[in-house]
Amino acid sequence: MEQTETRKRIFSAVQPSGNLTLGNYLGALKNWADLQDEFECIYCVADLHAITVRQEPAELRKKSLDTLALYLASGIDPQKATFFLQSHVPEHTQLSWVLGCNTMFGELSRMTQFKDKSQKHADNINAGLFTYPVLMAADILLYQADLVPVGSDQKQHIELARDIAQRFNGAYSPTFTVPEAYILKSSARIMSLAEPERKMSKSDPNVNASIFMLDKKDDIIRKFKRAVTDSEARVAADPTRPGIYNLVNIYSCLTGKTSEETEREFEGKGYGDFKVAVGEVCADALSGLQAEFARLTKDKGYLDGILREGTEKASYIARKTVSKVYRKVGFYQGK
Ligand code: TYM
Repeated sequence: MEQTETRKRIFSAVQPSGNLTLGNYLGALKNWADLQDEFECIYCVADLHAITVRQEPAELRKKSLDTLALYLASGIDPQKATFFLQSHVPEHTQLSWVLGCNTMFGELSRMTQFKDKSQKHADNINAGLFTYPVLMAADILLYQADLVPVGSDQKQHIELARDIAQRFNGAYSPTFTVPEAYILKSSARIMSLAEPERKMSKSDPNVNASIFMLDKKDDIIRKFKRAVTDSEARVAADPTRPGIYNLVNIYSCLTGKTSEETEREFEGKGYGDFKVAVGEVCADALSGLQAEFARLTKDKGYLDGILREGTEKASYIARKTVSKVYRKVGFYQGK
């Protein structure tokens, strides 16, 4: 497979730590599907990352397979892309240790996600939460990925992965491809419907702040109708008015229109009409995906088959990288 492949390689992942949101869909999954013809794509369900926050084991098991089903339902074709669960390829943790020994305490202390999550989970600031970006660097570097399509919240982690790769390459001779973040401007940061200054997040306790990929149409419309906006009542992509800015952005991402086209379409119309229109296009965009998700989750045998095949392909690449890294750092490999 590797010898004949000339396309650039993409790697990305989602944590199966909650219900996936419209932010995950627009910021990640939808783009992943759009990239599958042009690139060699490897998509992982990051279950090891998920346990940095306490998970209920049965839920984690279910969410892991549901996340895979959502990847597929988003239109990513298993004939074209490779899918697997992070815990099925032990090389992730093996490489993570070596990279951890090439990552500085100060670098990890500066990660904003660590600071945010330690505040949110003050009773469980575990070592895994702190070293999380090292495991993420291992995910990416293991596959020698060129590009990593993510939302902008992951940019800092990918910059760290680049720094670690460069440091290792400098110390031990070129070993890793130095990856680049691939972030689309329009969908980089979908904001909360309740507090539009904050990103929409699957861990937000306020269910009205997020649209979930599996929400029913009525709930989607209701949530958009009550989305926080302002009193100016003019539909505009105005970043100083974050609520309406976010809705224009969501509408534009879902319809493929530019913000200017969206503004023109709703000129002279009030927020009420616009919010219903956003809800309608969102529900339409998600309805086919939801039907496909329901079909796929009834067929665990099929999903397991995709994982088996994906794990095999991923492991082949991962083993090669770890063996090279072990050799370079000086681990005796026998005769
Ligand atoms: P996670 O699970 O938080 O999010 C998965 C993907 O969704 C994007 N995203 C958003 N994009 C736009 N607007 C939002 N409101 C929004 N919320 C989430 C994220 O940027 C991400 O692309 N650490 C990663 C998972 C991971 C990973 C990796 C990613 C583990 N290993 C290796 C890339 C490469 C995470 O927690 O994503």
